[in-house]
Amino acid sequence: MIKALKGMKDLYDEQALLYEKVIKICEEVARNYGFDFINFPHLEFTRLFKRSVGESSDIVGKEMYEFKDKAENEVCLRPEGTAGVVRSYIEAKMDKNQSVKKWFYHGSMFRYERPQKGRLREFHQFGVESFGNPSVYEDASLILMLNEIFSRLNIVTQLKINSLGCATCIGVYKEKLIEYLNSKDGFCEDCLRRKRLNPIRVLDCKNEFCQELITNAPKMSEHLCECCKKDYKKLQQLLQDNKISFECDEKLVRGLDYYSKTAFEFISNEIGSKSAIAGGGRYDRLIEYLGGKSGYGVGFAIGIERIMAILEQQNLQKQREGIYLCALDSSYIDTIFKLAKNLRKQHKVFLSYEAKKLAKHLNQADISNAKIFLCIGETEIKNQEIFYKNLENKENKNIKLVDLENEL
Ligand code: HAM
Repeated sequence: MIKALKGMKDLYDEQALLYEKVIKICEEVARNYGFDFINFPHLEFTRLFKRSVGESSDIVGKEMYEFKDKAENEVCLRPEGTAGVVRSYIEAKMDKNQSVKKWFYHGSMFRYERPQKGRLREFHQFGVESFGNPSVYEDASLILMLNEIFSRLNIVTQLKINSLGCATCIGVYKEKLIEYLNSKDGFCEDCLRRKRLNPIRVLDCKNEFCQELITNAPKMSEHLCECCKKDYKKLQQLLQDNKISFECDEKLVRGLDYYSKTAFEFISNEIGSKSAIAGGGRYDRLIEYLGGKSGYGVGFAIGIERIMAILEQQNLQKQREGIYLCALDSSYIDTIFKLAKNLRKQHKVFLSYEAKKLAKHLNQADISNAKIFLCIGETEIKNQEIFYKNLENKENKNIKLVDLENEL
């Protein structure tokens, strides 16, 4: 049998409906904020991601699905959306007059990571990219938008923000940081590579020993230029004014190299420990890096599988209610149809008109979140009984049909 590749999943039935529901909510909010749909290729030149996401990132360093196509082009399945959308913006010459453009997208991204709960090799993002707007109000607006999406989905989140400085201040900070890092020994292999390619990435290393080594590292917030300081302060004030709680996190540098100024992440504790369910920030220098005229860009992406995992978990924890009533043979459907009429005087009843195997009915009852499972088969019909199972405490027995209403 040929199976799906590790870290890649089929999506159908209830999960497909949930996927559509999440995307629909994201899209509604995005449209209300003035964003339009963009679709762009899944396959791009590898150098697009090397130049944007950056050589220091784990994505470019170890996670890309790269290969040569038949014309010997070095190509790569998109590991994220921002680079492709920026390429589109430049290719359509919208960078020439710094056009204001707001796009949203959703679809597959590919990263060769170690699969685990909420981490796949093909996963889906809903993302937005906003071009031509230098104002920090736009950064705040994107955070408000994410907040609105999560509140519509009933997901509790924590927000972390940081400022990564701009071309004026980040250089000076990096020099001081490198000086500090050079004075310490024992960094992990990854950090040694990051130190060379983009030293601020050392700040978010998960290795405990590296974390200890950087305890007294110079702080980015103390090296921001006046403009970055002003914008960062304004962002915090706008979030406070809009009752959005947040934490300023000096170590939030994001795993992609293209950010400057605002960086943010929404975290949830509901699937494993502190999982990032969305992340984004400003990337003003990226348009120029990719060969366009310098301009402004800010955006975010939500991890759809992580959102779905949270919603599925919440659904499991939801109080079960109602009765799932079914039969093993189609000749008993008339009997349960009559029975349902009576039970519905007092109970919520999901009635299955289809005869199925017991396991299939139980599965269906579980999906419909019923509390009581009632099923009639050959033995039950003979004895004028019904099979009863409490899906909460798993108690099961056969009940005489005449006693059923009293026993429920
Ligand atoms: P990112 O933080 O790499 O940012 O990804 C955004 C979200 O995608 C993460 O917060 C997470 O929820 C989800 N995600 C990432 N990797 C996986 C995976 N292997 N399996 C499941 N979900 C995953 C970006 O991709 C940027 N392009 C965001 C952005 C847009 N910044 C500016 N504009």
